[in-house]
Order: sequence, then structure tokens, then C-alpha cells
Amino acid sequence: KKVPLEDKHGRVHNYLRISLTDNCNFRCSYCMPEEDIEGMPNAQLMQPNEIYDMAKKFVSLGVDKIRLTGGEPLVRKEFPLILANLSELPVELTLTSNGVLIDKYISNLKASGVKKVNISLDTLSPETFYKLTKRDQFSQVWNNIQLLIKHQFRVKINVVALNGIIEKEILDFVAITKDLPLHVRFIEFMPFAGNLWNKDKVLTAAKMLDIISSKYEISKLQDDPNDTAKAYQANGHAGTFAFITTMSEHFCGTCNRLRLTADGKMKNCLFGKDEMDLLGALRAGKDIEPLVRLAVSKKHAALGGQLSTDYTKASAEKIQNRSMIKIGG
Ligand code: GTP
Ligand code: 5AD
Ligand code: SF4
Repeated sequence: KKVPLEDKHGRVHNYLRISLTDNCNFRCSYCMPEEDIEGMPNAQLMQPNEIYDMAKKFVSLGVDKIRLTGGEPLVRKEFPLILANLSELPVELTLTSNGVLIDKYISNLKASGVKKVNISLDTLSPETFYKLTKRDQFSQVWNNIQLLIKHQFRVKINVVALNGIIEKEILDFVAITKDLPLHVRFIEFMPFAGNLWNKDKVLTAAKMLDIISSKYEISKLQDDPNDTAKAYQANGHAGTFAFITTMSEHFCGTCNRLRLTADGKMKNCLFGKDEMDLLGALRAGKDIEPLVRLAVSKKHAALGGQLSTDYTKASAEKIQNRSMIKIGG
């Protein structure tokens, strides 16, 4: 049995996030800067067999959870093939999607044993949805969330908490957890290349908790050891809500996550600037294991060694990183 992927800070990595494309059918400016609208040429992307070979190697090194991300993973033409291939591996397969193409692929997801799907949805208002995504597809996304629930997927909704935009909707998001078994996660807005981040746009978990407590009686729920989110429930509700507090209180101490970009570069951290060219090595016929271990050994204790732990002092310009759409979250 192989030595696990443990870094210098004692963290064992068993969760791999694989980005399938840097394209998206939405246009959210916090994720996709103007200059990244044109995605990479297909030849530069990991091909289905290459994705499978990489994933298989990571599994042999202890990875037991794989999440497919993007861009929007469902716009990748070969998505059904990639998914079917990965379903052969002994891993929990999960997906983060903007939701708009879920109905097209629901049977593939079921056949591949996917049980949990995370959907990005920042607003419950069709007008605000259009402003954020530049697409008039709120109802498609909402219907697909209902469809996933109907097919018994465990559904989380990712809400990027943009100050001044979603503040007034926080209570509405908690309200939908009353009867629906939805898990709403409010994510503190994070800085990436080209996304015009500044500290005044960050709505902190503490503020959101204040807003929610003003209306609801709530209870703290137990979190899993490697959870990115801190979970709560409004008493008597079917669903839950949670906060992903990267900016106000990072959770790097229990990080178990590694990343592969769509062009086959390994990132040891969401905020790391170092990239390991695994696809280049694979195409040159080399074993990627030494490179994977080297990348893990270089992982910083927190936030890629680039972000201040005090978000009010953070500055997006100083971070050397890709845009969100080219990382995959
Ligand atoms: P679960 O497996 O359901 O817990 O999902 P997840 O939170 O791992 O993945 P998802 O793709 O739904 O990401 C939700 C948000 O958490 C996104 O904004 C991600 O960028 C963020 N996120 C995921 N992993 C990390 C991480 O390792 N560090 C930080 N800071 N944020 C992360
Ligand atoms: N800050 C926080 N979360 C973000 N996401 C995309 N961009 C950002 C950002 N700048 C979230 C989306 C998606 C997830 C993968 O990342 O909500 O669900
Ligand atoms: Fe892990 Fe980096 Fe995310 Fe921290 S910021 S939890 S170290 S990936």
C-alpha cells in the first residue's frame, strides 16, 4: 500500500477536484473576467483518457473523493464519457454545476452513481439572476434543482455572498430550506485574478448569521472533519444552511483538497501560485507520482501563503493566481 499524500503540516489529501473545461454558458463577472471569455483550445485540455489515467493515479495514492468542476463541467462535450470512465474508480464522485444542463445529463449522473450535486445559484430573483449571469435562465436552474431533489440527489446550493447584492435575499434562502431538503451554503466572496474583489464586497458569515438570527431560531450542526462549511439549521426546517468562511476564518488546518486544472496542471491550494505540469509529464510518458508528491510537499500552511488571514488587509492585486474560471473553485 502506498504512503498517503501527506504534506509538511500533517494534512492527508484524499479529495481531488478536477476541472473539465474553462468554458461556461454563464457570464458571472466574479468568476469569469472579460479576457477569459475565450476558453483554451481543446488540444490543450486533458482528454477523457488522460483524465481517467490521472484520476486513477491519484486514487492509487489515496484519493477517495473526486469532484468535477469547470468552468461549467456540463458544457464539456465529452462529459458523459468522462463521467462514465471515472465511475469505474472506487471513489465518491461529485459535481459542482451552474445547473442549467442538469436535465440533459440526469440519467448519466444516476447511472454513474453520483449521489451529491452542488449547484451555484446566487439569487432567487430572476432579475438579479440576469444581472449576475447575463443569462435569462433562472427558471431552468430552479427546475433542475427540483428535478435533482425528485431524483433523490443530496443538493447543496452555493451562494456567493456579494455585499449589497444578496444581503436582502439571505432570509429568502433560509426560507426555502423550510420545506425543501436543500443545503444552502453562503460563500464569502474570494479574490481571484480579474474579479474586481475588494474587502467592502465581502459579506462575512458573522453578519449573515446576525441577519438570520433576527428572524429564525437556529441550531449549530455538527460538521464533518474536512468540511469547507460551518452548518446550521433553522429549527424545524427540512434543509440546512452553512457558511464557507475563507475570508473571515479560514479552514486550511483541515484541508484535504488537491486540484487539477482543465489543462492538466496540479494546484496544491486554491490560492497557491505554484502549478505542476502533470499533463505535460503524462504526455511525455513519465510517471506523475513524483510530481504529485513534490507538489503536496510544497503546500503552504494556509491560503497558499498568499492571502492575509485578516481579510480587511487582503489585496487581490498582490495574489499571483488564475481567475476562478480557470481554477474550478
Ligand atoms: P462538498 O464536497 O459538498 O463539501 O463541496 P465543496 O465545498 O468541497 O465544493 P464546491 O465546489 O461546492 O465549492 C464550494 C465553495 O467552496 C467554492 O467557492 C469553492 O471555491 C470553495 N472551496 C472548495 N474547496 C475549498 C478549499 O479548499 N479552500 C477554500 N478556501 N475554498 C474552497
Ligand atoms: N468567491 C467565492 N466563491 C466563488 N465561486 C465562484 N467564484 C467565487 C468567488 N470569487 C463559487 C461558485 C461555485 C463554486 C465552485 O465557486 O459559487 O459554486
Ligand atoms: Fe486548502 Fe488552500 Fe483552501 Fe486553505 S485555501 S482550505 S489550504 S485549498
